Amino acid sequence: MLASLDEQARAILAKNDRGGFTIPTARLYPFQWNWDSVFIALGLATMDDDRAWRELEMLTEGQAHDGMIPSIIFRKDDADYFPGPNVWQTRNGAIKGTGISQPPVLASTVAHFVKAQGDNGLERAKALFPKMLEWHRWWHDYRTPEGVGVVCTVHPWETGRDNCPDWKIGLLNMEIDPNLEAYQRKDIEHADPAERPSQEEYDKYISIVKFGRDNGWDQRLLTEKGPFLMADPGIFFILLRADRDLLWLAQKLGADEAEAEIAAWIKHAEAGVDYFWNDELGAFCARDVRSGVFSDGFSNASALCFYADVGSAEQRRKTLAHMSRISTKTQYGQSSWDPDAPLFESQRYWCGPLWCQMNYMIAQGLREQGEAEFAEKMRQDLRKVIELSGFYECFDPISGAGCIGRDFSWTAALWLAWAGPSSVQSSAA
Ligand code: GLC
Repeated sequence: MLASLDEQARAILAKNDRGGFTIPTARLYPFQWNWDSVFIALGLATMDDDRAWRELEMLTEGQAHDGMIPSIIFRKDDADYFPGPNVWQTRNGAIKGTGISQPPVLASTVAHFVKAQGDNGLERAKALFPKMLEWHRWWHDYRTPEGVGVVCTVHPWETGRDNCPDWKIGLLNMEIDPNLEAYQRKDIEHADPAERPSQEEYDKYISIVKFGRDNGWDQRLLTEKGPFLMADPGIFFILLRADRDLLWLAQKLGADEAEAEIAAWIKHAEAGVDYFWNDELGAFCARDVRSGVFSDGFSNASALCFYADVGSAEQRRKTLAHMSRISTKTQYGQSSWDPDAPLFESQRYWCGPLWCQMNYMIAQGLREQGEAEFAEKMRQDLRKVIELSGFYECFDPISGAGCIGRDFSWTAALWLAWAGPSSVQSSAA
């Protein structure tokens, strides 16, 4: 008999377990990834709280001395992956990692666990608290350039939305390093090149890595003088929510000395919300910091204003109007890029596909902000697309076809924690 989807999801998480941490999928992504692990922990918690905490603890083992938690933790090298530890050459942590970070969803999941588990969770949260505090401080300090006032990013990979058309302006404004060494991509050996970033984009991604490496991963220098500097509504909204959750944790844990600092970050971020508002488009958009130019499309990160609980009534209304329009163009959930925008491609990674973790966060925000019906539709859409195609990395939002990696951990985890009929959310709905 065919295993049920719940059983398949559990089997994927077990198969991708590497001893206390979970890889996103074998071969294509053979290490621990930062935000992947945080969503994976939500799925693990449906089976085993202890293992879920372990996932998060192992993620923080990769923290660098300056406080950054890298996008990838390289416990050992893997010839199947490029760019691996020999390309990044970081030397500023107990374990090697990349020289960039990823969206800081950690504190929000820790707060969620504490709420769900009560005192049992509190001890584990207490040990993680100083590490999360340092990491948030790193964003507010090292990734907030002089005179800009909002948190920024130095690399499209740091946003987790790797080849989204949002980064087009920032990439256009930079050169490929003329001394870039020859290298061999691995991603196009494991996945269809038509679904992956172009060669020119890739050369630019690696040029930024070279800049960081040539400058000893001096993060302040990378932010101030690096080749790429954009502000991402995804990182901004996720960090703002995570700061609020961190403040809640500080209060819960009696970490009084941290409260004023976190409250100041929140206040500062709230004052920066309009930096992202593209009036012409009527949406929160990515922005090239040095030229001030806005990205010209509605992305799934634009929809995270609800998750961060920000935006005026008018801004929220306009955001919802875009989302409703997008829903009429897709069959399944919110696409990563606007189907009406010129660079939309339904199967190319962040140029169109539906991503489960983004839909989860968007829907969570909508539900909290009085849009429960819309949120529930997104949840049902994810359920349907997984029933149709299985546990892929992402999905064509129009046909529902699965794209890129198979047996994908965060898809399996969010099925168990959110989209599937046996999830807690289902019993609450
Ligand atoms: C891709 C995605 C990124 C994810 C990683 C591992 O690089 O763009 O968001 O963390 O794969 O799944």
